Amino acid sequence: MTGIDTRDITRLSGVDDRAVDALLDAAFGPERFGRTAYRIRLGMAWLTDLSFAAHDDAGRLVGTLQSWPVALHGDDGAQTALIMVGPVAVQPDVQHAGIGRALMDRLIETVDAGGAEPLVMIGDPEYYGRFWGFTDTATGGWEVPGPVERRRLLARAAPDATMPSSGTLGPRRILIAD
Ligand SMILES: CC(C)(COP(=O)(O)OP(=O)(O)OC[C@H]1O[C@@H](n2cnc3c(N)ncnc32)[C@H](O)[C@@H]1OP(=O)(O)O)[C@@H](O)C(=O)NCCC(=O)NCCS
Repeated sequence: MTGIDTRDITRLSGVDDRAVDALLDAAFGPERFGRTAYRIRLGMAWLTDLSFAAHDDAGRLVGTLQSWPVALHGDDGAQTALIMVGPVAVQPDVQHAGIGRALMDRLIETVDAGGAEPLVMIGDPEYYGRFWGFTDTATGGWEVPGPVERRRLLARAAPDATMPSSGTLGPRRILIAD
């Protein structure tokens, strides 16, 4: 598939869960549930307005991107809300054809239009830094619940946003008012 752009990307809502699972198995393998990224957003539901799908002309699901509510938890109990991006997954037989880029472009367009929380992800800086400006600059002092290659722990915030220098990444606590 060539020539895909953000107009070919739809919301993930309504896509068959089994098709999404099959795509994630194909892209990451069945061991994917042990990954640190899964522990960071454990128990959270993906964000319907920031999760996307790509289908080919025959209607086959060829790419998905999910985003999750997470937080950086400080020692003082305060949490800084973040959005965790990933998995970003493309069917192996159509990788490197622009589908990952179109999915991410759609996410970044949406985030930049809506003043969403800063983004965090575990991914290749050569890809996510090159096209969308993710860096490990803010994340050097962040703890994660599992092994991570530090250079792959990436964040992206609005230029005027201040990111905490320390804390532990984990699921976002839902605060309920009395
Ligand atoms: C990583 C992934 C999402 C990229 O999507 P894709 O549709 O295959 O890639 P794109 O067509 O958008 O790539 C565009 C460019 O980025 C490059 N690129 C793709 N993946 C890359 C990576 N992991 N590291 C560095 N560069 C990469 C491509 O070579 C291409 O470069 P070019 O334009 O100079 O030729 C996809 O390959 C995939 O699902 N991989 C397996 C799962 C995975 O590792 N996910 C990432 C962690 S969340």
